[in-house]
Amino acid sequence: MFKVAVLPGDGIGPEVVKEGMKVLKVLAENHSVQFDFQEMDINSERYLRTGKLLTAEDVEQLKKFDTIYLGAVGDDRVKPGVLEKGILLALRFQFDQFINHRPAPMWKPFGRLKRDMDFNIDVFRENTEDYYVGAGGRVQEGHGKLNLEIKRNLYDMRVQLQADADAKDEFAFEIGMMSRKNIERFADFSLTYAKMIGEKKITVIDKANVCSNIYGLWRDVWSEKCKHANVELSYMYVDAMTMALVKNPDKFRVIAAPNMFGDIITDLLAEVTGGLGMAPGGNINPKGISMFEPVHGSAPKYKGMNTINPIATILAAKLMLDNLGRRDLGDIINRGVRTALDQGVYTHDLGGKATTSEMGDAVVAAIRRG
Ligand code: NAD
Ligand code: IPM
Ligand code: MN
Repeated sequence: MFKVAVLPGDGIGPEVVKEGMKVLKVLAENHSVQFDFQEMDINSERYLRTGKLLTAEDVEQLKKFDTIYLGAVGDDRVKPGVLEKGILLALRFQFDQFINHRPAPMWKPFGRLKRDMDFNIDVFRENTEDYYVGAGGRVQEGHGKLNLEIKRNLYDMRVQLQADADAKDEFAFEIGMMSRKNIERFADFSLTYAKMIGEKKITVIDKANVCSNIYGLWRDVWSEKCKHANVELSYMYVDAMTMALVKNPDKFRVIAAPNMFGDIITDLLAEVTGGLGMAPGGNINPKGISMFEPVHGSAPKYKGMNTINPIATILAAKLMLDNLGRRDLGDIINRGVRTALDQGVYTHDLGGKATTSEMGDAVVAAIRRG
């Protein structure tokens, strides 16, 4: 029995999670697995009603589960960053999910490139540091002191920043930070995965030509780790990488990226391989509670229309099962998705006419037929 905390979230989140749960429930019919789902309303509605984001009680509650299944958060009625940082990033940090695994296989014939290509990329995105640490602030009139704190499983860091400018302007800071131990464990995980799939090469992205402190440390660790693991390492600057991912994505197999660039290139790769409606991700803590969600957000303008593509969220359930040690079931979901698409059932974003729920039903039917 797997205990699954379900956080449908905002916007299209509830619609896509509903389809993902349909698919998980069909597996429970005759594939020797049971799920205990419990929905939690950690979302914008609750925030607007009560002012609560991710609370200490939520965290205590979530600790009782084997895994977390999330739709998306984000609501136009709330200032950007409040829900995203207060719920989504808080969950990733709180549960020390330091790896974000975002597979990007080409979904033929839905790829958006002009030439026909076949490839399968796994992106590993560092998930708790970089420019996401949330340490920053604004100073008025050129002067100010910022008392910053970064709390993680690996450390509790305080940073004081005293700013004194000779211009009476307003200044804003956003501090990027990485720690050696976190990069090490992230590199170890990515390299172990590469070896598991028989891959001897990894492409590591950064902007070490500009942010040479933060990505200098990043590179030091990667060079050491790849040498030790006997994996061929090539560095790519993120700007050149965006070009390469459109021009010749088939040259890549495993990519590792810092948090911010990983965010950006996975939307790009999603579009290249079939669209945001097809791209799942797993926020992974190998020794703790992991969380699975689509790469896309809450797409508020499509909320409640039953038109958007639930496959990213269905495939997030596949990643969840892989992570729970049931790769056999994960494969069944993947095959179900492929079969439904091959039968011509797909949503508007892929050029089809199916509704969100018809898409989910088609995957369910494909799995039932075996
Ligand atoms: P978004 O990913 O929500 O949507 C961008 C566009 O992608 C949509 O307008 C739509 O055209 C397309 N799209 C997304 N999901 C799709 C699907 N399932 N099927 C078909 N097309 C789909 O990005 P945004 O509009 O920049 O952000 C909306 C809100 O979501 C913001 O509040 C943002 O902060 C938040 N967000 C949350 C997450 C998350 O919870 N993991 C991720 C990204 C963005
Ligand atoms: C994602 C999203 C989040 C991120 C935002 C909403 C905080 O874009 O999951 O890709 O930047 O990680
Ligand atoms: Mn993103």
